[in-house]
Amino acid sequence: MAAKLAVLGTLVLALLGSVSCQQAGYGYGGGNPTPSPTSTSTPPAYPPTSPTPSPPTYSSPAPPPPTAYPPTPSPPTTYPPPPTPASPPPPAAGSGLSVGYYNDKCPRAEAIVRDAVRAADVGIKAGLVRLFFHDCFVQGCDASVLLKPDNDTNPQPEMLGIPNLSLRGFEVIDAAKAALEAECPGVVSCADIVALAGRDASVFLSGGAINFTMPAGRYDGKVSLASETLPNLPPPFADVARLKAMFAAKGLDTVDMVALSGAHSIGRSHCSSFSRDRLPPSNTSDMNPAFATQLKANCTSPTGADNTVAQDYKTPDQLDNQYYWNVINHKVLFASDAALLKSGDTAGLVYAAALFQQKWEDRFGKAMVKMGGVEVKTAANGEIRKMCGYVNKPYSG
Ligand code: HEM
Repeated sequence: MAAKLAVLGTLVLALLGSVSCQQAGYGYGGGNPTPSPTSTSTPPAYPPTSPTPSPPTYSSPAPPPPTAYPPTPSPPTTYPPPPTPASPPPPAAGSGLSVGYYNDKCPRAEAIVRDAVRAADVGIKAGLVRLFFHDCFVQGCDASVLLKPDNDTNPQPEMLGIPNLSLRGFEVIDAAKAALEAECPGVVSCADIVALAGRDASVFLSGGAINFTMPAGRYDGKVSLASETLPNLPPPFADVARLKAMFAAKGLDTVDMVALSGAHSIGRSHCSSFSRDRLPPSNTSDMNPAFATQLKANCTSPTGADNTVAQDYKTPDQLDNQYYWNVINHKVLFASDAALLKSGDTAGLVYAAALFQQKWEDRFGKAMVKMGGVEVKTAANGEIRKMCGYVNKPYSG
């Protein structure tokens, strides 16, 4: 009971914005650089040096004392806390999208995508949620992340950008596209497949608890540049100011950002994404020491391989609000996860999401839809690709 009261008390304090870490420039851990959004310096620990997939190797450390988890939710009178007023208005993106867009053009389109996602394993499903995020944050949700390198026209597309080397799930998109081209050629964009697959993966991984309609009608882009990835995708060492700024640049506010961060309750990370700034011996972070020691053991490889560990040590394959308990208990991988406790508004949202699971599920779906509207292409500046890895060749007569 005391623990529940303590959590609720902290929530109230956080909602009132009275936690003590909200000064601008609050650094992370002291040992890790937190460059400004425009900085070009890149910490050597990120990205993973080996994009080769390998199964998560992390075994859960001892769970927190049962008194601390889970508390009984209080009546949902205070969710969501007020968003940060500083967020700029979202860009006028997403207009033109509609739910059921393919109902008359290709009636089985959504079912075909869903079947392809269903066939994927849990790790690839997690990868699909991340693929959608990485697509939307660079050049908008236009499948630019799918374009393959082409020596003549574009040797360095987005997929070769540092944050994208560890993306997975491309083969699911290709399988869905192949089935869709067989069913209704030239109709369903790769950008929509990525968005629908991100939605479907969320539904499957949450056991249906997260369920939302995803508007469609996006066109595929023709521009894809690796050089645009680092400036647009937040790094794992980002502090809260940088996170807010990078989401705001896409028209997503602090409520959206904290809700979407719950995606770190699924999937994996390469150790190189966090070991330098978060693990012993250079561990100057506020990570739970026992958790850090366990992670260190799982990240230690006699061959020097870049091991992977589960994002969520407790329920690694479920898209749920466990992530927020992990943040609260200092058992998260990235400085950017831990940073959510370091400003009053984000801390309040973290506690609220931990306490009010359904509200977070609802908020997650809404934020995914909002993200799916970022800088979408239309027939005027996009196309419906025939193959998701390549732009259509111009007709040469
Ligand atoms: C808030 C800023 C974010 C940062 C700094 C961040 C960073 C990262 C990093 C470094 C990884 C591990 C990559 C690796 O080493 O293999 C990762 C994994 C992941 N991220 Fe994020 N991320 C952020 C937000 C998001 C959002 C908004 C989503 C989706 C809505 C998302 C979904 C995922 C998923 C599902 C994984 C696991 C992927 C897999 O298992 O293949 N992340 N993220």
